Amino acid sequence: MASVIIAGVGSYAPKRVLTNADLMKIVDTTDEWIVSRSGIRERHIAADDEATSDLAIKSAESALIDANIKASEVDLLIVATATPDYPLPSTACVVQHKLGVPPHATCFDISAACSGFLYAMEVAYGLILTNRYKCALIIGAEKLSSIVDWKDRTTCVLFGDGAGAAVLKKVDQPGIGIIGSDLGADGEMVDALLMPGGGSRCPASTKSVESGQHFLRMKGKEVFKNAVRVMETVAREMVEQHHLTVDQISLVIPHQANIRIIEALSTNLGIPMEKFYVNLDRYGNTSAASIPLALDEARRAGRIKPGDYTLFVAFGAGLTYGSTLIRW
Ligand code: UT7
Repeated sequence: MASVIIAGVGSYAPKRVLTNADLMKIVDTTDEWIVSRSGIRERHIAADDEATSDLAIKSAESALIDANIKASEVDLLIVATATPDYPLPSTACVVQHKLGVPPHATCFDISAACSGFLYAMEVAYGLILTNRYKCALIIGAEKLSSIVDWKDRTTCVLFGDGAGAAVLKKVDQPGIGIIGSDLGADGEMVDALLMPGGGSRCPASTKSVESGQHFLRMKGKEVFKNAVRVMETVAREMVEQHHLTVDQISLVIPHQANIRIIEALSTNLGIPMEKFYVNLDRYGNTSAASIPLALDEARRAGRIKPGDYTLFVAFGAGLTYGSTLIRW
């Protein structure tokens, strides 16, 4: 039986680093508050002339090198993002052209916020198994600094920019690669985390700009509570569905939103914090980029070995969520 494996990974973060001390000059906050409430110490911020596709391309180039695959071999390109270069067309088309992915490739974006990378992986997995696609490039990329209200201390301290990419392909070896995936959404909570302006409900206008409709808004506590509950449930179900115990999971790569969410997940699942990969202290919440960015770092740091089980767990606006189990 065929499997779909992650053949290579890559990531990129913009050069500029914004520390908590820098933020204290912009809004009424403290390093102590940010670190104790979120675990974040610094985040990367893209340059004015750097768009989401620019970050995506750099991460993709490194994933292609890692997989020893040429851009010309990619026939499926998916970009998961909440901050596309343009409302129309997709960022995937921008990436395709600049990266040299051939015109016959299928290219589109996925909008699933912080769960976007896992959604992209699930779609690519299914399409590769149809045998109509051979090689997928999936990217999670965000320039969240472009939709953050830099006057709102309750959100601006949390987010950062970055990108991560993975090359997926089919191999004729059973029991490795993407073993399972469980995605979901709770649309009843759309209002908990959204950017109200710029879509068909509230198109861009002088009024929409003046009233701050084009910024991210979050009901932090509500999102927090749901994140802890839902991430635990999908992670536990993924392990049980595959007749594993939590001890058999070598590494958990959770969405990097808040260290307190990750610690609660660790306690509730009975998986020690040492088995969680955490880099949010250096990147903040990079939404769809957070899991592939952490995956790339974890792999390069030697945290993943052949035969290991790795569990991805995500949660984000929508509210979307998901878990994916990988065997290397
Ligand atoms: O990626 C998608 C998923 N997103 C998440 O998972 C985020 C989930 N939510 C969270 O991570 C947390 O709810 C936050 C980090 C956003 C907030 O933490 P909290 O413990 O829920 O704090 P809070 O919102 O209840 O605010 C506590 C206090 C408030 O003051 P009062 O009303 O108690 O006087 C805030 O005004 O902290 C104040 N506050 C701040 N103080 C200093 C809020 N932001 C700041 C700040 N600096 N940056």
